[in-house]
Amino acid sequence: MGILTSEHPSIPGFRGNKANFRDIVETGRRMGVLVFVFTPNGVRDSASEIVGFTRHPAVKGWVRLSFPKPHVVYNRIPDRKAERQPAEQTTLRMFLESEDTRLFNPRFFNKEELWHWTANDDTLKYLQPVTEIWGDQATLTHFLDRFNPLYLKPVSGKAGKGIMQIKQEANSYLLTFVTGRGRELKRFRTRFSRILYEKVNRLTNGERYLIQQGVSLVQYNGHPFDLRTLVQKDSEGEWDVTGLGIRLAGKQGVTTHVPRGGSIGKPENIFPRVFGSEAKQLYSRALELAVAAARAIERQSGHALGELSLDLGIDRNHRFWLFEANAKPMKFDEPLIRKRSLERIIQYAVYLAEGRERSAHS
Ligand SMILES: Nc1ncnc2c1ncn2[C@@H]1O[C@H](COP(=O)(O)OP(=O)(O)O)[C@@H](O)[C@H]1O
Ligand SMILES: [Mg+2]
Repeated sequence: MGILTSEHPSIPGFRGNKANFRDIVETGRRMGVLVFVFTPNGVRDSASEIVGFTRHPAVKGWVRLSFPKPHVVYNRIPDRKAERQPAEQTTLRMFLESEDTRLFNPRFFNKEELWHWTANDDTLKYLQPVTEIWGDQATLTHFLDRFNPLYLKPVSGKAGKGIMQIKQEANSYLLTFVTGRGRELKRFRTRFSRILYEKVNRLTNGERYLIQQGVSLVQYNGHPFDLRTLVQKDSEGEWDVTGLGIRLAGKQGVTTHVPRGGSIGKPENIFPRVFGSEAKQLYSRALELAVAAARAIERQSGHALGELSLDLGIDRNHRFWLFEANAKPMKFDEPLIRKRSLERIIQYAVYLAEGRERSAHS
């Protein structure tokens, strides 16, 4: 299996989460699968040979070697900007069209297409907060009349970047937003929707944004939380939930991201405390919805997917909501989920490679 990422000028020569790649290579070795990392630069025209990087217990760090064409390519190009580069596009296309290599998770999703996919699916449409493209003031006014709070999200955002929240208080609107990478929240208060509109417009900075119904999430010890589920295909090529984690928002948090002051919670502790006798049923429902969402998103995206992470919310009436799906899941910090997720990637790669063999010989 080749892990496709982008070039980097300094050693080891590629971008992405190296600790993650190392764990995948080592899991592969334990399970008898050769895994290497490569970039578009390492691919020769015929791609019969690829220059890439792997690890060996006898050698420290990454070793650069020549590899045969992989049976399976796991796409981990690190961001959308890199994905748009001509070399990355050429490589992706080459492997997507190749008869003897299977590539999965060919690209990033954006929140706008996810919104349409969700709206088009009979199960998922009920999970979707009401959403529109951010634009004129009439849209804002319409949302202010119907919902409190509201969320504003860049269609190509991740990890909470650029997210804003609007709360309507007795005599004013409170806009809370994060800037840059930090966990610091900024606040802006005004009594006038016109001024609120102009402030938001300035903050969007020309980026495409969604405006969305805000969901009042259930809380644990005063902290709102949501669910991060990792859904992966297994050794039979079937979708299954590898793990479900809880992310609690920090004090005054707008999102539940750990780098933004959120924290990790254990479902086995939190579900019974928050949901009492309903805990078991809600937990199973979360797993069911996650698998249904993965299936629907794969179908609608028109691409072969091997894994997805989904952000699910439960509101105070115990209704489920789907915030987003991510085709490049971040690594989970929970050790058990982490271990299983690595094994699943290898198992799925083996499944794909065997399918490839079968079709090549039939
Ligand atoms: N409509 C909403 N109502 C309530 N909370 C939301 C809403 N949308 C997003 N959030 C919160 O913000 C977090 C990040 O939103 P998400 O859409 O996943 O963007 P990102 O790509 O930045 O992770 C969610 O996990 C959730 O905690
Ligand atoms: Mg998210």
